Amino acid sequence: MSQTSEGVLPVVLAAGLGTRMKSRQPKVLHELCGRPMLAFVLAAAREVSGRRPLVVYSPPTAVLKDVFADEADFALQPTPLGTADAVKAAMAVAPESADEILVLSGDVPLVQADLLAELVDMRRARNAAVALIAVRSSEPEGLGRVVRSDDGGQVLRIVEEKDATPDELEIEEINAGVYVFDGAWLRRRIGDVKASPVSGEFYLPELVTLAREDRRPVVSLEVEDDGTLAGINDRSQLARAELELRMIINERHMLAGVTMVDPFRTYVDVTVELASDVVLEPGVVLRGSTSIGQGTRIGAGSQIIDTVIGRDCFIWASMLESSEVEDEVQIGPFSHLRPKSSIGRKAKLGNFAEVKASRLEPGVQQHHFSYIGDADVGERTNVGAGTITCNYDGVKKHHTKIGKGVFLGSDTMLVAPVELGDGARTGAGSVVTKDVPAGMLALGVPARLRKPRAQAETTAAAVPEPAADADTGSPAVEETAERSHR
Ligand code: UD1
Ligand code: MG
Repeated sequence: MSQTSEGVLPVVLAAGLGTRMKSRQPKVLHELCGRPMLAFVLAAAREVSGRRPLVVYSPPTAVLKDVFADEADFALQPTPLGTADAVKAAMAVAPESADEILVLSGDVPLVQADLLAELVDMRRARNAAVALIAVRSSEPEGLGRVVRSDDGGQVLRIVEEKDATPDELEIEEINAGVYVFDGAWLRRRIGDVKASPVSGEFYLPELVTLAREDRRPVVSLEVEDDGTLAGINDRSQLARAELELRMIINERHMLAGVTMVDPFRTYVDVTVELASDVVLEPGVVLRGSTSIGQGTRIGAGSQIIDTVIGRDCFIWASMLESSEVEDEVQIGPFSHLRPKSSIGRKAKLGNFAEVKASRLEPGVQQHHFSYIGDADVGERTNVGAGTITCNYDGVKKHHTKIGKGVFLGSDTMLVAPVELGDGARTGAGSVVTKDVPAGMLALGVPARLRKPRAQAETTAAAVPEPAADADTGSPAVEETAERSHR
């Protein structure tokens, strides 16, 4: 990119109502692969100019001031009367020293900084009043057409679709809505743009006509339509731009060593980080600040939001939100990590396991339809089928602490706050309302404590490895035969 682009003042137009989106939120807040449209434009503007962009907003889009407070300065356009009126509002607050103005549309989000740098250079080379980007497009519908002199050399004017004659509508070259202006000239002439007699709007491309009146050069950077200059006015165009961006993102990851079984059905936000040898199966959705370590496989249909996953894990048809997963963990099918869950190395969470705001230490097994919430679960503890931490008393949430090598029988209810010491066990169907000391067995409803028959083997000093087939939590059944029929 050109070093010389530094110093240009970027102005971003975002005051329009975006009525064609038929939305209650401003158009430029609609997202592409997890990031609002306007954020892309601000990033490109900053990259090319090295300056904080000036965003034009109006009362209906005032929320932008909050969302982008850290990233931009703002100019108010009291009523959105058209793009020229928006630039007029920007010039009213722009510093006098701004002698070059880059104007970007908030709804042309995929514009690339290196192309902008080229446009800046082009304007400077001819000391043009206006430099604009013209795109060859076989689908010009809805956009401003570039009207050229008969020899095709000179840009005479831009005509908006609403104002165009049938002949002009045939033109297959469109105005991208991206411009660089001579700042002093723009300041002098922006107030002279007249409203369109057709729509009553003040059109920014009218400056082309004013520059020609002033006998100042108008230059155009002519590019093929590669999708990065698409303007987004409705939801169909939004979907097309997202598809374009998705392909760019997926291509980048695949070239960096990620396998995508079907890249057309793999949805990776622009903010996601993937290591090499990650495998993404069809229908995977990765959102926000998610990152995934080397060799991890994400199975079909999984959705992962703001979650950090380690190496060599297998996540199968599951939903993970705002959590952390260490290396070699297996999750799913059909498991749900709710926010603030942390899963230790080699843990296994199976069918219909739900975890919320809990830490599961390495080697924990939770294979069958169970809920662990607001809990700490010690190393290699086995969570029997149907186990539930009853963490909510109707008013407050309470904590459950489960030690190492604990064996929770099927259908154990842990009524929080409650603590189970290392090596403790519970019988199937027990309702545990009081703390269970290390190595003790809790049985019944409400659970009473006793020493397990094979106590020596289950104390903290000799925490057993859960047997591969011991995951339904049934060994206490013999001692609770009276409820084994439940
Ligand atoms: C505009 C161009 C058109 C070009 C197209 C490219 C004009 C008149 N037309 O049309 O030649 O082909 O972009 O995408 O400029 N905005 C304001 N204040 C306003 C009106 C609009 O800030 O009063 C902002 C909008 O929020 C938007 C941008 O300007 O981000 C462009 O406005 P939009 O209404 O989308 O213009 P188009 O019809 O797409
Ligand atoms: Mg537009």
